[in-house]
Amino acid sequence: MSDLSSLRRDFPILDQRVHGQPLIYFDNAATTQKPRLVLDALDRYYRRDNANVHRGIHELSNRATAAFEAARARAAQFINARSADEIVFTRGTTEGINLVAQALSARVKSGDKILLTEMEHHSNIVPWQLLAERTEANLSFLPVTGDIGLLDLNRLDEWLTKEVKFLALTHISNSLGTINPVAEICGRARKLGIITLVDAAQSAGHRLVDVQEIGCDFLAFSGHKMCGPTGIGVLYGRQEVLETLPPYQGGGEMILSVDFQKSTWKHAPHKFEAGTPDIAGAVGLHAAMDYLDKIGRARIAEHDQALGAYAYEKLSQFKSGIRLFGPHIGRAGVVSFLLPEVHAHDVVTLADQRGIALRGGHHCNQPLMRKLGVESTARASFYFYNTTDEVDRFVEVLAEIQRFFAT
Ligand SMILES: Cc1ncc(COP(=O)(O)O)c(C=O)c1O
Repeated sequence: MSDLSSLRRDFPILDQRVHGQPLIYFDNAATTQKPRLVLDALDRYYRRDNANVHRGIHELSNRATAAFEAARARAAQFINARSADEIVFTRGTTEGINLVAQALSARVKSGDKILLTEMEHHSNIVPWQLLAERTEANLSFLPVTGDIGLLDLNRLDEWLTKEVKFLALTHISNSLGTINPVAEICGRARKLGIITLVDAAQSAGHRLVDVQEIGCDFLAFSGHKMCGPTGIGVLYGRQEVLETLPPYQGGGEMILSVDFQKSTWKHAPHKFEAGTPDIAGAVGLHAAMDYLDKIGRARIAEHDQALGAYAYEKLSQFKSGIRLFGPHIGRAGVVSFLLPEVHAHDVVTLADQRGIALRGGHHCNQPLMRKLGVESTARASFYFYNTTDEVDRFVEVLAEIQRFFAT
């Protein structure tokens, strides 16, 4: 495993004690911490360049516009899009998926199928449910196999029928840690003319994500899960598909001209960005993308997966029936578990008392939890600034918690 621990110095927040103990931050699937470089970029933008974009001709507005558009070009490069015109800035993954599901409405008719998987986050289920309600389309779900949490790809052909118009699936499961072979799945779907969307919330900041290699039509991710600020995200749309979609929201910035009765709008991506965008967020995200690429996303992936495997292995040696979810091998840096007879919330509360930030609950995966026959799990999720020493301490604390409940 690459030793990236020296990078911890870039994260002022990590250097603190919580309840008297050194902070161990294992809630990275919910949001990651921000390096100084990103904080500085935000500060610099507001101190020096702040103005509204695209409509001013004064110096500050030109600077803000240049910075905003440079972030768009950087995002295109980050995921190997063909052009910056394929990058729509959003509030995050959730908004990106809502935008697509909303804008696709006119293309869906009664009886069409939208194919999702059983491991989707609520943000990749509910927008499609709303679309299905509006259009009388049907949702179906690719099954997940038991606690191992893999998609049953042997049966994919049975699910990719001619009624399926859209397929939306996650790259990495936020509660199982499963890494789905999205390039293979999207490739098979596209041969049948199915429009595909990949939820890259858990992957974009953790590994190389190449939209051309994946071959998807859409891909969405959130800045805050990859060292960037909250409130900014990216929706990639393949130009030929993106351009054909109608606007998602109306307002300033997205129009060419407005008359009392009718308006015309700009080309993509601008027609999807009504109103003043999160300019500072884009600037911060730009800094985050530079930072991650300086470390190297292949190194980050290797580190996160190795730490995930290390934690999984340590936990599986636990005496007395810990339940572990997700694949045994090839998992991302996410480990969900349940101690026998201990509620996930109790694990998280007691771990917090020892300075360890975990998450307990359904992780916005209620249908998946039901399928697994549980209400909730406890989850540790890692990033490159986490270390094996921290995992060792976490395992020690879990053993204490288990002893506490056994007595
Ligand atoms: C797999 C997955 N998809 C989507 C989301 C939603 O991301 P956001 O809340 O940033 O829009 C999350 C957040 O946890 C996630 O893990």
